[in-house]
Amino acid sequence: MTSVVIVGTQWGDEGKGKIVDSLSDKADVIVRFQGGHNAGHTLVIDGQTIKLSLLPSGIVRENKLTIIGNGVVLDPQALSSEIEYLSKIGIKVTPKNLKIAENTTIILPLHKDLDLAREERAGKAKIGTTGRGIGPAYEDKVARRSIKLNDLCNLENIKDKIELILDHHNILRHAYKLDLLSVDDVYQYLQEIKKDIIPFVANTWRILKDMRQNNKKILFEGAQGLLLDVDFGTYPYVTSSNTLPGQASIGTGVGPKFLDQIIGITKAYTTRVGSGPFPTELFDESGEKLGRIGNEFGTVTGRERRCGWFDAVLVRQTAQISGIDMIALTKLDVLDSFEKINICVGYELDGKEIDYLPLSEPLQNKIIPIYEEHDGWLTDTSGINEFNELPLKALEYIKRIEEIISTPISIISTSPNREDIIFLEGIFN
Ligand code: IMP
Repeated sequence: MTSVVIVGTQWGDEGKGKIVDSLSDKADVIVRFQGGHNAGHTLVIDGQTIKLSLLPSGIVRENKLTIIGNGVVLDPQALSSEIEYLSKIGIKVTPKNLKIAENTTIILPLHKDLDLAREERAGKAKIGTTGRGIGPAYEDKVARRSIKLNDLCNLENIKDKIELILDHHNILRHAYKLDLLSVDDVYQYLQEIKKDIIPFVANTWRILKDMRQNNKKILFEGAQGLLLDVDFGTYPYVTSSNTLPGQASIGTGVGPKFLDQIIGITKAYTTRVGSGPFPTELFDESGEKLGRIGNEFGTVTGRERRCGWFDAVLVRQTAQISGIDMIALTKLDVLDSFEKINICVGYELDGKEIDYLPLSEPLQNKIIPIYEEHDGWLTDTSGINEFNELPLKALEYIKRIEEIISTPISIISTSPNREDIIFLEGIFN
């Protein structure tokens, strides 16, 4: 196997950062292919917590190349602050260990303004975005008016491009009662950010092609989760990119037949930030307990995450849609003190049992989860490194999940620490 794609199988925050960090030890290059600085990846290394939102998690390892692919929308200010944050803790980001695709779309301050203004006006219908301009930046990309990194390297036609983007945004800014922007405002901004970013800009699809030809190991790092996919997620309460593993190909320029293995990261229960349907959400003491023990607060926004039981129907569906080969199960230890643990095994819709999540929002709001109750193991599992040392009831829980989702669980993470991980199958072998 020379390439592995990692994606979250729920609504994000499944603990991808730690798994990517662990696998990046074996990889030569770690590549992000969608999303932006809306992602939150937490790594705990030698007791030190590192929070990343834009840079590939592999950046924390020495001698690894990292790439931000063209599928990402990039906020240059967020990039600079993340680089500065890392440099303060002794991690150097240079054009040697970070390359950014020249055809990457830039997030401008006007995208953030629009994201926030819309959410404020939306009232009850708000998506609960991270407010970082991600959606508006993707909109401009598909509307063919965005400014890309290669435009910064060649400022020749930039004023025409700025005019085009402002034609659209000033209409919206007027409607949302935001100050109108001049071509010069945006031009000045681009001039300011240009010098810090240009050194990182590269033709990354060619770098990846060469690496592939030399049998180098490529790790594709997904952000968010499959239920936030703009096509197959709980639309419209989704992010604005495709989070499915196929995007690893489009968002980097590596052909789909070179994606060898797909690993889905799955939390042992379910969480969600922001609005939208969540069939197994708990509003009782158990939900509060999951949040408290699991420290379920958004990495990017600090918002409290909504918590619920493990929904096997959802994970089976996302695994099927995205062709997941194996699951990495995370945060099992959060369930250690629960006497009873539920797994959602089906839904009731209008009095009938169904085994999938309908794609229509009104139906999603109507479904009632059908649970299977399991006895908890009431034993501390945190830090266990051997599969056979897990308590029997925890092993039964894992086996049952595996059975329902019809996908092997081959990696188990038992704490936030880098070393607390069980591999049942070799990766990158
Ligand atoms: P946006 O990506 O900022 O447009 O937000 C759209 C939806 O995706 C909101 O519900 C966010 O809370 C959610 N979201 C975006 N990024 C993440 C993430 O990394 N983890 C979990 N939820 C996310």
